[in-house]
Amino acid sequence: MLQGKKIVLGITGGIAAYKAAALCSGLVKQGADVHVIMTRSASKFITELTLQTLSRNPVHIDTFDERDPEVVTHINLADLADLVLIAPATANTIAKMAHGLADDMLSSTLLATMAPIMVAPAMNVHMYQHPAVVQNMNTLVSRGVLMIEPGSGMLACGYVGKGRLEEPETIIRVVQDFFQAQAHRNQLSQALAGKKVTVTAGATVERIDPVRFITNDSSGKMGIAIAKSARDMGASVRLIAGTVQVPLPEGIETVRVQSAQDMYEAVLGEWNSTDIMVQTAAVADYRPRTVYDTKMKKKDEGLTLELEKTVDILESLGQRKQGQFLIGFAAETNDVAEHAMGKLKRKNCDLLVANDVTTVGAGFGTDTNVVQIYDADGLVVDLPLMSKDDVAIQLLSVVAKRLNGVSTS
Ligand code: PMT
Repeated sequence: MLQGKKIVLGITGGIAAYKAAALCSGLVKQGADVHVIMTRSASKFITELTLQTLSRNPVHIDTFDERDPEVVTHINLADLADLVLIAPATANTIAKMAHGLADDMLSSTLLATMAPIMVAPAMNVHMYQHPAVVQNMNTLVSRGVLMIEPGSGMLACGYVGKGRLEEPETIIRVVQDFFQAQAHRNQLSQALAGKKVTVTAGATVERIDPVRFITNDSSGKMGIAIAKSARDMGASVRLIAGTVQVPLPEGIETVRVQSAQDMYEAVLGEWNSTDIMVQTAAVADYRPRTVYDTKMKKKDEGLTLELEKTVDILESLGQRKQGQFLIGFAAETNDVAEHAMGKLKRKNCDLLVANDVTTVGAGFGTDTNVVQIYDADGLVVDLPLMSKDDVAIQLLSVVAKRLNGVSTS
């Protein structure tokens, strides 16, 4: 995973700097091109020559030691990095990063780089717990800096506790995982390129009179997560949204609808140009037979509302399929597999995503879901509790694999 990856390794001044030699050597052995920047304090613990020999690249300490007139060294290092890894990171360097100081080679490079930054702190246990350090680390995490938590054990200062630099092999594994995840994201970003995906989301509203209606608990979160993931996988996306409880996503063309009939018409408008249709919306099965133009008046006796069936959008699409890949959802409370397979076949879906809405963390309104994906042969995958964003990625990865033969796992 590290072949050809350019890693700027920042080494700061703590006793754990001696471990940076093994870290540097391990990264190079994995194929990484390592460029070391040391702080002046780090050079008291480990020599420039050691790191130069291990990395097979010049080591940088002094911002003003410009050896190549063609480049400004700290900008060059900032630009070439695929990853900036600081190990060990002292409390002082973490504070400088949090506050944007640029008073040496490492801190200047850190301000200039657009590359991801990974920090492996090492310090005394009390320093690690100090509110200032905790706050600085939280600031960095909120900016997207990746932290490699220190290990616990006997510290060089004699204390026992948390603050020991994570072992070089572990740091190398974290770096490998990072690049693997990045490669996976890059692969996903093109998985649906050239496809048009239409997604329905949210609840439909069936009017009784101008002030009353029948609806359901769908928040739109699941459908919007699918629309966003499809966009991030390179598809052109159309969202058809009923009532939703979350902001509509930026950059996705959205058609707003109220009733099942409105949704049906909007869906049909997109159908011929759609490659992948995902019907996540909770659509009313019934609507009032009569819709009153004026507010219904309260009477002494009870009220019976007569309901009539709405159009089953998914079933109707299943009958019109001409190469479109059709995905339905099923909100179930019992006999999930049986009901899901029944719906998949009756509505002629290519995939059906079932969620048991009685499961904690699944179904309506939650940020998470627990789903099973079925095809005509039965269960494809049983996903554990995960965010709706992750469910969306998993579902669309299955679709991409089936449509393009592209494996995104
Ligand atoms: O929006 P959230 O709060 O995030 O909640 C997500 C969800 C629970 C709404 C979602 O995960 C889900 O299960 N959506 C389908 C809900 C539903 O209406 O299930 P159903 O079993 O009644 O319908 C089966 C399928 O037929 C669905 O794809 C539905 O869109 C479709 N249908 C249903 C009725 C109808 N008249 N027309 C349809 O197209």
